[in-house]
Amino acid sequence: AQIVVIHGPNLNLLGQREPEIYGTSTLEDINRQLTELGNQHSVELEFFQSNHEGQIIDRIHSAIGSAEGILINPGAFTHYSIAIRDALSAVPIPAVEVHLSNIHAREEFRKLSVVAPVAVGQISGFGIQSYELGLLALVGHLQRLGR
Ligand code: DQA
Repeated sequence: AQIVVIHGPNLNLLGQREPEIYGTSTLEDINRQLTELGNQHSVELEFFQSNHEGQIIDRIHSAIGSAEGILINPGAFTHYSIAIRDALSAVPIPAVEVHLSNIHAREEFRKLSVVAPVAVGQISGFGIQSYELGLLALVGHLQRLGR
């Protein structure tokens, strides 16, 4: 299977960005670990990071016909981007939402995910492991769909 991993705004600064909340792993560290995990499950990963809502939407659209699943950390867009939510529901590709931090244990404004209702599910609070759990959940979901 082919899976696209989408990292939203400010995640390019991982490792140096509020390490007490987001940990010290960099985005490259995360992508490297995911690639390894993907190899173990015979899935090929493509990575994309953007700080721009429209570029994330374009990347979701361009997954049509190429990717079988989407693993996405929409960053702050999680909480208010109806456009990213609409893009995810516009494409016939299952998406799993992940967050490094537990968005339900932080500020009130982070508790709402406008993306969650159109995702297969959400994994939040396990640091870099959220991505690994999310990938495994997505792979399992795709297998159950026979893809
Ligand atoms: C985040 C949580 C969001 O609230 C925040 O805006 C981020 C990162 C996380 O991975 O914990 O940028 O998505």
